[in-house]
Formats: sequence, C-alpha cells, structure tokens
Amino acid sequence: MSYEHIVTTTRGPVGIITLNRPDAMNALCADLIDQLCISIDEFENDQSIRSVVLTGGNKIFAAGADVKEMQDKGFIDVYLADFITKGWERVASCRKPIIAAVSGYALGGGCELAMMCDFILADESAKFGQPEITIGAIPGAGGTQRLARAIGKSKTMEMCLTGRMMDVQEAERSGLVSRIIPSGDLLSEAVKTAETIASMSLPIAILAKESVNRAFETSLAEGLLFERRAFHSTFATRDQKEGMSAFVAKRKPKFKDC
Ligand code: CAA
Repeated sequence: MSYEHIVTTTRGPVGIITLNRPDAMNALCADLIDQLCISIDEFENDQSIRSVVLTGGNKIFAAGADVKEMQDKGFIDVYLADFITKGWERVASCRKPIIAAVSGYALGGGCELAMMCDFILADESAKFGQPEITIGAIPGAGGTQRLARAIGKSKTMEMCLTGRMMDVQEAERSGLVSRIIPSGDLLSEAVKTAETIASMSLPIAILAKESVNRAFETSLAEGLLFERRAFHSTFATRDQKEGMSAFVAKRKPKFKDC
C-alpha cells in the first residue's frame, strides 16, 4: 500500500516504516498519524513480518506534532477529540517488536514516538528534546512520563522546563538510546538488529516484551510475579523444547512460533 506521508518497505521478515514529510521536518500531522496506524496494523496482520523498524530517514526523525495544524485549536477542540490519543499510542501497543532508528532531530512528539518503540538506536546526528515549553505547551504524547522513566527526574525536568536538547552521547549515557551507530549505517544496523529478533520465536519475543513493559506499569513484586508466570508459560511451547534441545545438541534452533 502507498501513503502520502510515510513509506513502507520490507526486508525479509522486517517491516520498515519511514516517516516522509521532508518539507515539514516530518512533523506529525493527523494524516501522518492515521497512516502510521494503518501501516502498523498491516505489519501486525502480515504473518511474514516478525519485527518492525520505525525511522525518519537519514536527516530527521520528527520535529514533533504539527504546530501549524495545532495552533488555532481551543481547549474544547482538543479535549473533546482527546487529541494526541487516538492513533498516537498505536506504536506503543504494537505487539511485534518495534525499533526506533533515529537520525537528526527527535523533538516533542518525535521524541515521544521514538520512546513508544521498544528501544532506540540512533546515529551520531541524533538530537532529542521536549521543546514544547518554548511554544507555550507541555509534552502531550508521554514525554513527561516515558522520558522520566528512561532518564530520571533531573534530566527530564531540565529538558521539559528549558527545552534543552540532548545530543546522542548524552542520550546513550542516560539510557534513552540503547546504542549509537555510525552515521550512514543506522538503517542497515537497525534492520540487522530487527532480523536477529525476527530469528527468535515470535510468541517468546512478545512474552519478553510484555514482561519488560510490566516494569513500567506495576510494583516490583507484581512485575516479578508477571515475569515468573510468563517464564513458566514458555515451557508450554514447542519453541522452548526446540531452543533448549538445540542448545544441548550444539546446533541452531528452528523455531516454529508454537
Ligand atoms: N510543526 C509544523 N511544521 C514544522 C515543525 C512542526 N513541529 N517543525 C518544523 N516545521 C516546519 C517549519 O515551520 C518550516 O516550514 P516552512 O519551510 O514552511 O517555514 C520547515 O519545517 C523547516 O523548519 P525550520 O525552518 O524551522 O528548520 P530549522 O532547520 O531551522 O530547524 C527544528 C529545525 C529545530 C526542528 C525546528 O523546525 C523546530 O524547532 N521545530 C519545532 C519543534 C517543536 O517545537 N516541536 C514540538 C511540537 S509540539 C508537540 O510535539 C506536542 C506533543 O507532545 C505531541
């Protein structure tokens, strides 16, 4: 399927979504978000796709929600429409593993979208920020919450209160970015990483993802109980038998997603 503001491609088992509004710094307008949702639905429904990469290309990830689209809205408009809810959270609810590959600016909703992915790979040009305060607003797609969980209160407060951006070294040091990739290699490394995940058992990968995500939703005791039960449930799969017997026999496992 072709879209106006995004491009989707596949590389083997990896679905790639590229945000594509170059004239507007990939600003996340309502149509782009709708198209992003549809593309995630498509990749979720496509049995041949086992992991997803979300990128903005090699110049910019996204400069946030579309300010021109938002500027004249009133409280009642955004409240009744529950603005920045419908569609936006679709990335966070993607069941298949999804990696953000960030080059250039990931600002406001762009930083928030990257944080909705399972982890962030970024190249040397990446810059992260929540500059909403500089335009008289605050983050509205999870920036105050997910950033605080990722990098802690002090840096999050500073970024949200001053609009200061982080370069990629600081973002990696702070735990926002999992790895810095040399410029030019970002997409290929993200796809390679997504292929590694795609080579695992999909139900087991989803269980791992759900368990890590519980850490952000619950107490330690409840999270540990969730993890333990999810771990137990892996023993109900053939892939656990295959994985462990392949290890013992010193061969590569052949997972069958069952
Ligand atoms: N919305 C709409 N248009 C945007 C945009 C945005 N978020 N960001 C950039 N653009 C447009 C610019 O208006 C400009 O358009 P014109 O050519 O028609 O003038 C074009 O993209 C290029 O931008 P700049 O000329 O500003 O490029 P630059 O290289 O000088 O600066 C930038 C790049 C630092 C990313 C700067 O554009 C910028 O600061 N953008 C806005 C960042 C921002 O405030 N984001 C938060 C938005 S609110 C939000 O996201 C809320 C939320 O939590 C969901």
